[in-house]
Amino acid sequence: MNSTLAYLTTQLDRAIVAALGDDYAGTDPLLVLSSNPKFGDYQANMAMGLAKKLGQQPRAIAQSIVDNLDVAAVCEPPQIAGPGFINFTVKSSYLATQLQAMQADSRLGVAVADKPQRVIVDFSSPNIAKEMHVGHLRSTILGDCIARVLEFRGHDVLRLNHVGDWGTQFGMLILYLREAYPEALTTADALDLGDIVVLYQQAKKRFDEDAEFKEAARQEVVKLQAQDPESIKAWKLLCDQSRREFQVIYDRLNVNLTERGESFYNPYLAAVVEDLKATGLLVESDGAQCVFVPGFTNRDGDPLPLIVQKTDGGYNYATTDLAAIRYRIQTDKAERIIYITDAGQADHFAQVFQVAKLANWIPENVEVLHVPFGLVLGDGGKKIKTRDGESVKLKELLDEAVDRFRNDLESRLIEESRQEAPEFIDNSANIVGISAVKYSDLSQNRTSNYVFSFDKMLALQGNTAPYMMYAYVRPQGISRKGNIDYDNLGDNAPIILNEALELTLAKHLLQLSTVIAEVERDLLPNRLCQYLFELSQKYNQFYDKHSVLQAEEPLRTSRLMLCDLTAKTLKLGLDLLGIPVLERM
Ligand code: ARG
Repeated sequence: MNSTLAYLTTQLDRAIVAALGDDYAGTDPLLVLSSNPKFGDYQANMAMGLAKKLGQQPRAIAQSIVDNLDVAAVCEPPQIAGPGFINFTVKSSYLATQLQAMQADSRLGVAVADKPQRVIVDFSSPNIAKEMHVGHLRSTILGDCIARVLEFRGHDVLRLNHVGDWGTQFGMLILYLREAYPEALTTADALDLGDIVVLYQQAKKRFDEDAEFKEAARQEVVKLQAQDPESIKAWKLLCDQSRREFQVIYDRLNVNLTERGESFYNPYLAAVVEDLKATGLLVESDGAQCVFVPGFTNRDGDPLPLIVQKTDGGYNYATTDLAAIRYRIQTDKAERIIYITDAGQADHFAQVFQVAKLANWIPENVEVLHVPFGLVLGDGGKKIKTRDGESVKLKELLDEAVDRFRNDLESRLIEESRQEAPEFIDNSANIVGISAVKYSDLSQNRTSNYVFSFDKMLALQGNTAPYMMYAYVRPQGISRKGNIDYDNLGDNAPIILNEALELTLAKHLLQLSTVIAEVERDLLPNRLCQYLFELSQKYNQFYDKHSVLQAEEPLRTSRLMLCDLTAKTLKLGLDLLGIPVLERM
C-alpha cells in the first residue's frame, strides 16, 4: 500500500471512532482511487453503508466524520459529494515531498515485505525429448516476472523447473537410441543426438508400427525403473540433449531456473500412496489406486478419481505432484507454492491440492496456488503454426522477432540518415525483439487467450515493449543533450507541480508501490504493464507540452527530476518484467 493510502486509512479510522464511538473502530473506509480527477484523488465510500446500519442520512454521517478528520498535512479540505462520498485531493506540496523521498530511495519507495516468505515458483517445466512449445514459453515469461516481483519484495524465491523427465515414453526412446545410435551407450563423450524432437518422432513411429518394438519398449521401462545402469545412462543422454536445447532458450530470454524434474521425486512416490492408504482416502477402482475428490465429475457426471497408482503399479503425473508438494513443504519449507501452467491443467491442480489438503499435508500457513494462463494463438485465432503447417520452434519465433525489429530499425536509420555501428544494430535488435515477445505476453491478462502478432508487438506506438523502451530513452536523450547528471540534481532541489500534466505524472509515479503490491498479491503482471504504459503516456504528454532544458530555474531542475524519476521507474518496472532498457535506440 502506498503511504498516502495508509495515512488516509489511519486518519479515517480515527475520525470514524471519534464521530461514531469505539464500536466502529476498524470499519473499512472503502477507500479507493478516484475514477475521475473531478472527484479528487481518493474517495472514501463507507458513509452509505454506515448510514444504513445507523438509520441516518449518509451525508450527515460523512459530515460528522469529516468534522473529526485531520488530514491537513496531506490533503486539501475533504469534500462531500453525491450521496455521501468523501473526496480527497492530495496537496501538491505533499506530492512533492513524496517524490523527493522516492527519488532519494534506491527502491523508489517500494518497501521490502513485512514478512518475507519462502516461495516456490514452479514454471516453464517443458518435457524432455518433446518440443518446448509456446505454452512453455508463456509459462517461462510469466514465471520469471512473478519470481522477479516476489524477489524484489524480499521473498526468498526458489525457481523450480519441474521438467517432465520421467515416464513410460523413455522406454521407446532408450530402445530407439540403442538401435539408431549403437555407439551412444559405449562412448564416454557427450553425443550430439541432433534434433531430439525428431528422435522422439522416429521412436514413436517404430513404437506404433512394430509390435515387437512396443513390447521391448515396455521391458525397457521396467529396466529403467529398476535403475539398470545402462538404461540410466541412456536416459541421462536424452535428458542432457534436451536440457542443452532448453538452455539455449533460457539464455536468450535471460531466465534463471533450477531444474528439479519429475524423476527427482521417484524415491518419494511409494510413500505418497502408502500414506494415502493410511488416511483411508485410497480406493481401488479397476485395479488402480484412486482418491475420489468431492466435487469432481467426468463428462457423464460420474465421480472423477485422481489416480495415484496405475493398474500396472506405475505412478503418474499426479503422484509426482503430490510427492513434490510434500517435499516442498517439509524440506524446502515453502510457505507459498505457485504453479504456472496453462488453464488446461486447472483440474489436475485442483484435484491434487484437494487430495493434499484432505490428507492434511498442507499446513495452515502454506498457500498452494495454480496460476493458470490462456492459449497463445496464431493468425485467425487458430493454433499457432508455421506457414507449412508445422509447429513453430521457439528459437525461430525469437529469431523472427529479432529480425523484424532489425529490419524496422535499419529502415528508420536510413530515413533519419543516421549512421550506427553494426554492433549497435545487433544489440538493439536482440534486446528489443526478445523484449517485444515477452512484453506482448505479459501485457495480456494472463487468463485470456491471446493472438501472437509480430506486427502488434513490434509497433512503436501502443502498449508494446518498443514504446516503453523509447519512453525510457527520451530522458536519457535530455541528459545527453543538456549534459545533465541525474544523480547530481541536488538533494534538496524543490519539486514544483503547478501544471496539470506535472501533477498527473507525479501522482502516477507515486502509485508504483501500490501496483507492485497488487502484482505480488494477484500475480497479474499485466497490471504492471498497464501502469508502465500509462506512465510512458503521461510522461510523453508532459514532455510534449512543457519544455525541460529551456525552462527557467528552479523549474528546470524540478522538471529534470520528473524526467529522472520517470526513467528510474520505467527501468525498475521493466526490469521486474524481465526487460532491460537501452540508453538509446
Ligand atoms: N511438464 C508439464 C507440461 O509440460 C508442466 C509441469 C508443471 N508443473 C507441475 N508441478 N506439474 O505440461
